[in-house]
Amino acid sequence: MQEQEIEDRLRIMGNFFDLDALLEARTDPEDVGRYYRLSDFAYRLFMGRTIHMGLSDDGFYHKEDLLKPAQFVERYIGTEPMNILEVGAGRIGNTRYLAKRHPEQHFTALDLPGRGFLKNRAPRNVKLVEGDYSDLSLFPENSFDLVYGVETICYAHSKERVIAECSKVLKPGGWLVIFDGYNTKPQEQMTEFERRFTSIACAGMRVTTKDQYIGNIPLYLEKHGFGDIEICDVTQQIRPTLRRLDRVACYAFMHPRFLRFCQRHFAPDVMINAVSGWLMLFTVDGHLQEYDRIVARKK
Ligand SMILES: C[S@@+](CC[C@H](N)C(=O)[O-])C[C@H]1O[C@@H](n2cnc3c(N)ncnc32)[C@H](O)[C@@H]1O
Repeated sequence: MQEQEIEDRLRIMGNFFDLDALLEARTDPEDVGRYYRLSDFAYRLFMGRTIHMGLSDDGFYHKEDLLKPAQFVERYIGTEPMNILEVGAGRIGNTRYLAKRHPEQHFTALDLPGRGFLKNRAPRNVKLVEGDYSDLSLFPENSFDLVYGVETICYAHSKERVIAECSKVLKPGGWLVIFDGYNTKPQEQMTEFERRFTSIACAGMRVTTKDQYIGNIPLYLEKHGFGDIEICDVTQQIRPTLRRLDRVACYAFMHPRFLRFCQRHFAPDVMINAVSGWLMLFTVDGHLQEYDRIVARKK
């Protein structure tokens, strides 16, 4: 673990952001919705329509790598009519891609109220719905053939609750697909230093530190009626994106006038995710966090 380098970065970040206050920041759905509304500008600038890691196969970042999660989900879309739900769909990059390629299928995309989700322009076969994936009672039980979420369930304070909700709305035999980052060990087993900097890395994106241990996920899936569970660590594939984000964040912190200009003219927190961008490589290099592709089938 490159503790000195991490300490140096934290010190530089501290010139722009109050990191202790950041650690105290709330991560309830309203706070997350507000964060995305305010930082939409920065995400659009650096990531386009998709707000997630690219999956790279050759060690280099290519723009097309951002489509890979949706291309993986596509394996579960057949030719018979299907009802498909994306939870935490953001700027609907994944759903838009899939809906255009499968005009005969019916897609629903869900995201939080308060983040401007309904402003998205959706293809004809996509229905946009505002709501919280921790309560999917707005959909009938057993109504979807496929539910998926890309880098969104990390926001849930209780992953078990979201998995239970997804199970309720899935038809028996339906598939759940998740791409997300997780902690490799429970927080209590981290050193004080590890806990602090992984927590700051999460907080920069308003991601909760609660219930992030990957070891719990198969237990939740089994408990809520899933079988054929496959958890695949694909951390290696996101490294090129992480390196790119690291460079972008480094640019921001090395150009204080640019960062202060954005803070003054957009919102104080508009570049807060640069904090995460500048730390995430260390969380995976230090094997504290990993990135997983999770697939499970409702029995
Ligand atoms: C990192 S973005 C990913 C967006 C999209 N999945 C993608 O791959 O481009 C996380 C998204 O999850 C949404 N989100 C967070 N908590 C949520 C919740 N409780 N219910 C629904 N959506 C949520 C956020 O509003 C945000 O749009």
